[in-house]
Amino acid sequence: MTEHDLTEPDLTKSDLIGRREFIHGSVMGAGCLLLSRMAPFVAAGPTGADSRIEVLLGEPLGTISPNIYGHFAENLGGVIYDGIWVGENSRIPNLNGIRKELVEEMRKIKAPVVRYPGGCFADSYDWRDGIGPADKRPRRTNFWEQDESAVSPASHKYDPNQFGTNEFIRFCKLIGGQPYLAANIRSLPAEAFYQWVEYCNSPAGSTTLADTRASAGYADPFGVRFWGVGNESWGCGGNFTAQEYAVEFRRYTAWVPRYGQELSFVASGPSDDGWDWTRGFLEEILRKGPGELRSIYGLALHYYAWNLSRGRTKDWNEGKRDALNFDTLDWYELMRQGDVMESLINGHWQVMGEFDKNHSIKLVVDEWGPWYRPGSEATPGDILEQAPTLRDAVFSGLTLDTFNRHPEKVAMANCAQLINCLNSLYLAHEDKFCVTPVGHVFAMYAAHQGGQALRTIFSSPSVNYDRDGKPASFWGLKGSASLHDKELVLTVVNPHVGEARETEIGIRGGSLKSGTATTLTHSDIHAHNSFAERDAISPKTSVVEFKGKTLAYSFPPASVTKLALILG
Ligand code: AHR
Repeated sequence: MTEHDLTEPDLTKSDLIGRREFIHGSVMGAGCLLLSRMAPFVAAGPTGADSRIEVLLGEPLGTISPNIYGHFAENLGGVIYDGIWVGENSRIPNLNGIRKELVEEMRKIKAPVVRYPGGCFADSYDWRDGIGPADKRPRRTNFWEQDESAVSPASHKYDPNQFGTNEFIRFCKLIGGQPYLAANIRSLPAEAFYQWVEYCNSPAGSTTLADTRASAGYADPFGVRFWGVGNESWGCGGNFTAQEYAVEFRRYTAWVPRYGQELSFVASGPSDDGWDWTRGFLEEILRKGPGELRSIYGLALHYYAWNLSRGRTKDWNEGKRDALNFDTLDWYELMRQGDVMESLINGHWQVMGEFDKNHSIKLVVDEWGPWYRPGSEATPGDILEQAPTLRDAVFSGLTLDTFNRHPEKVAMANCAQLINCLNSLYLAHEDKFCVTPVGHVFAMYAAHQGGQALRTIFSSPSVNYDRDGKPASFWGLKGSASLHDKELVLTVVNPHVGEARETEIGIRGGSLKSGTATTLTHSDIHAHNSFAERDAISPKTSVVEFKGKTLAYSFPPASVTKLALILG
């Protein structure tokens, strides 16, 4: 988390030329299309349409990594204890201590990867505390203890270590996703990191740690591929400068034993528009030689939409607003904040290209989501828990569409966080559970995983509104498309709180046979699910009708829609 303005990265001369050419090219390209196909749709024409979407089957952008639909589960507040882990002897339905309903829901969304144990918690955690017989494991002070309140349960303040590496891996296996472990580089030596890799990946019978793993019932190696080397190392992860961190990164990742398992190291990256971190880190990495780039799979990027003050403050606490009590201006402000993600992806990618010309290093957006002030917790005492509404669902659709549009840049993303924290997909307390509107969006968008992203052009009237006495506007319709053999998946966000968008959808290079539309919306923009009303808001699916290559569809106000279309 940082508290600075969002700015453009400093551009070198060649970047500027390259960028100018690119912009020129796209404006020309889009301009021709606008003239030939889009202009009639700016105002309602004879068909009644005011918007148009053009899917270009012949213009693939790259494969959408399933891992951009990833999750983040930190040992923070009610995420692990009460959220995921209920205990083996619990009356709450569980699978070896893991909440059964959560597992069932995560299977439905094809959860590809989960990041654990943090977050800031990771750089205070000793993995060795969380293995071995459960009754022998120590209790430790949780990193977040000082933020906890008198009503928070003891397990949130003092980590009972009942959920450790074994339990996390079991959780991943149950949901069918991959583990992504974040290593502690602030308070543990590199040796502890190598030994965590050894514990997880060394073959059965090969090392003492493999034997320790086997004695807990896990003879086969866990095969953990993704390893985060610290977290927010500019802050809670060690207070390093970018240069200092680069030295640590090289040291921690040098000669880590492989055991035949590919290891993908994710470097702690910038928050928001921290271009200097990206630049400083890569510059220092390269001081040792160009080969060093090969040790980096991904550069993490964290971006939270927290400042809804409309420019009044940059203060981390003052800038936040309420999750449930908001007006339409707050709604659009969150959308604007969400839209910043695209410029961050493009900006950091551009800076990375200064050092990594072939772009072998990808972006891993391993923390993203809105962050509101306290007050909407489903369970009092769960720190950082908030009530996701339709607004957060639209924000999440907008963000996932952004990732889909940059498949060559974004290799993984992890929504912060999975359950009982920030942009949760699920809320749970004791035997109570519900899927949030954000969870529903993940279920809808799972259809994009592994598809071929397609260039898609959206043309729609902007949303115009008054932003504290000044006219403001926001785009009218945006989304993403992916092709899966004969199935085309098109997801579309209509951010307007009051107007539907009557849209003609054209498929360039193909024709349509049949299709369905799944829409998440509500007449109340504050709609959200709760333990008492689990289905206050949920998606509705219907069959769509069309003629030939064109489909007419009305995107309701404040909505996220998935069109699953079969091509002829
Ligand atoms: O997601 C909550 C916190 O936000 C994480 O622990 C930290 O990495 C970030 O600042």
